[in-house]
Amino acid sequence: MKPFYVTTPIYYVNDRPHIGTAYSTIAADVLTRYQRLRGRPARFLTGLDEHGLKIARTAEAQGLTPQELTDQMQEPFRQTWKLLSCEHDDFIRTTERRHKRKAQALWRMIQERGDIYLGEYEDWYCVGCETFYTEKDLLEGKLCPQHLKPVERIKESSYFFRLSKYTQPLLDYYEAHPDFVKPSARFNEVKSFVREGLRDLSLSRTSFRWGIPVPGDPEHVMYVWFDALSNYMSALGGPVENEPAPLFEQFWPPNGDLVHLVGKDILRFHAVYWPAFLLAAGLTPPTQIWAHGWLTVNGQKMSKSLGNFLRPEPLAEAFGVDPLRYYLMRDVAFGQDGDFSHANLIARLNGELANGLGNLLNRVLASIVQKSLGGRIPAPTGPDTAEDLTLQAEALRCARAAAEQLDAVAPQRALEAVWELVSAANRYVDRTEPWALAKLEDKSRLSHVVYHVLETVRMIGVMISPFMPGKAHELREQMGLHPLMATVGCDLWPSVWGGLPSGITTQPGKPLFPRLDKDQEAAALENLGVKLDAPGSHAAATSKAQSPKSQKPAQEPKVTEPASPATQASTDTSISYDDFAKVELRVGLVLTAEPVPKSDKLLRLTLDAGDPAPRQILAGIAQHYAPEALVGKRVIIVANLKPRKLMGLESQGMVLAASDETGLFVSAVAGDVKPGSLVK
Ligand code: MSP
Repeated sequence: MKPFYVTTPIYYVNDRPHIGTAYSTIAADVLTRYQRLRGRPARFLTGLDEHGLKIARTAEAQGLTPQELTDQMQEPFRQTWKLLSCEHDDFIRTTERRHKRKAQALWRMIQERGDIYLGEYEDWYCVGCETFYTEKDLLEGKLCPQHLKPVERIKESSYFFRLSKYTQPLLDYYEAHPDFVKPSARFNEVKSFVREGLRDLSLSRTSFRWGIPVPGDPEHVMYVWFDALSNYMSALGGPVENEPAPLFEQFWPPNGDLVHLVGKDILRFHAVYWPAFLLAAGLTPPTQIWAHGWLTVNGQKMSKSLGNFLRPEPLAEAFGVDPLRYYLMRDVAFGQDGDFSHANLIARLNGELANGLGNLLNRVLASIVQKSLGGRIPAPTGPDTAEDLTLQAEALRCARAAAEQLDAVAPQRALEAVWELVSAANRYVDRTEPWALAKLEDKSRLSHVVYHVLETVRMIGVMISPFMPGKAHELREQMGLHPLMATVGCDLWPSVWGGLPSGITTQPGKPLFPRLDKDQEAAALENLGVKLDAPGSHAAATSKAQSPKSQKPAQEPKVTEPASPATQASTDTSISYDDFAKVELRVGLVLTAEPVPKSDKLLRLTLDAGDPAPRQILAGIAQHYAPEALVGKRVIIVANLKPRKLMGLESQGMVLAASDETGLFVSAVAGDVKPGSLVK
């Protein structure tokens, strides 16, 4: 079987792990565990990107040397991945000697083939994304299009990579490898970018030292992305120069299948630069690059300025590691943007995990098997009824479907298939009523039915094990089964009915997934510092506990546009009722929301505010809300504000919002008031 090699991006050490980085790491762990279950040799690499200007500056700001910073920061990463049951086979740091040597070896291979030359670089650079920009790529005011921060002018001697020469070879490569980038919509974006023609890439810097020295010219340090990308190879001991590199031989394509999981923001580096470097070195590019989407949190972007990076540790503490892994893999379609919602996590924990799977195991194992079958797995007695045959067929169909989805890197669909089986098994229990069969003298039908349920649960236990290894283990323990031992060459994925041995003694324990009652739910959310809008709603939440910033006094509520000079000039702040009555406040139902091109702050909303036609309002809230999170919300608007033009678009009013150091929140009314209702 062809070896499988999966990687996460190597993370910058200027921040601790958050739910976004945990997402890639958990996905890589799930894929690795799945491939191992299938009997494939599998390897999972993660690590840290420790060089470059961003890290050097972060260290300086903290009064540390870059090496001190990176040495300190590796620990939280290692600990978090361990806590989240992410069992990587290797953890590479780009400051390690084994990496530096191999990054230099890759450089030499490309240079010897003539695709690196010395020149002079003059253009713009964003430290945030460690990327070069030409003027046409920048936003107004010379801002980086990703970080919306000013870029820096750079003029220095630099080595260049002949990327321009690889425009056509890359397009040919894409043509020959139609699954090279997933999802395919993203592949199309990559192709159109390359079709526009590529410029040579500056590959070294002389103005700072925190990087890997260029071979033969130590005045220069390597461009941090060249250094970083080569981690995928250096961790295997490649490229091979004069010494053997068995891992490289085993796992690097074409011998192995290599899948890079990356966020959509760093796809270009992986799908354009990286294969170009490899082609230039005469090496085989990765098999596939999977670009996943970005997570927002309860509808809000995570950002340093808001201090709302959601940390996985408190979530794991509150809800359990496995439910958190399950939720992340289940709720977000891999490849699309998604929203982390505490309310949805709780709903899935209570619904699919506790009521669905936990209850299935419990209702049969903890009661019927103990009371009526001597605590042992019964033998199937036959004959099969139509219901039995349907369950058997459904089990095999779902197992096949889940495997197909995992092969296609669609964890959410795989779980969907597994939960179709959970529902089918619960329906089977409802219909066959084993509690009624237990009352009969002759226990043969009971044994047959219970065997069917438990064999289905056994299969489910195997299929959930990549996602929830701890719970899968507990489930097997309760059934009296040995732990699953993935072995190369041995496919453990369920493919035939009847693998459950009869006669073994079961050991029912605590419910697999304890349900959170309303009080526990409220306590968990309070501990996390999360406030939900309304019970069960798509929550607008923020987390005090997770904000690294110290608490400042709450700021005044503010509107989303600047206050008028008149209000600023007044010293007596009280107003008469007549003054207040002049302001027409109404309830507006958000119908659509979208970003305003070229503006990092504005969203264009259309609202039903009781007018004959939808009203357009431009609100300065883009940094706080994902547009889709606003649709369907009832907000309070100032309806009689003189219309004004912003970015060429007319804004017919203002959305009220309040902010403090934890974020900005649009005003809302409690209840489904008719759009257009007056707020008094
Ligand atoms: N160091 C580079 C990667 C080099 S790989 C050779 C880097 N590091 S990063 O720490 O900034 O980002 C790592 C990954 O986290 C990226 O894939 C990025 O897309 C992902 N995410 C950061 N925020 C995220 C979310 N909010 N949601 C999902 N993923 C997110 O880039």
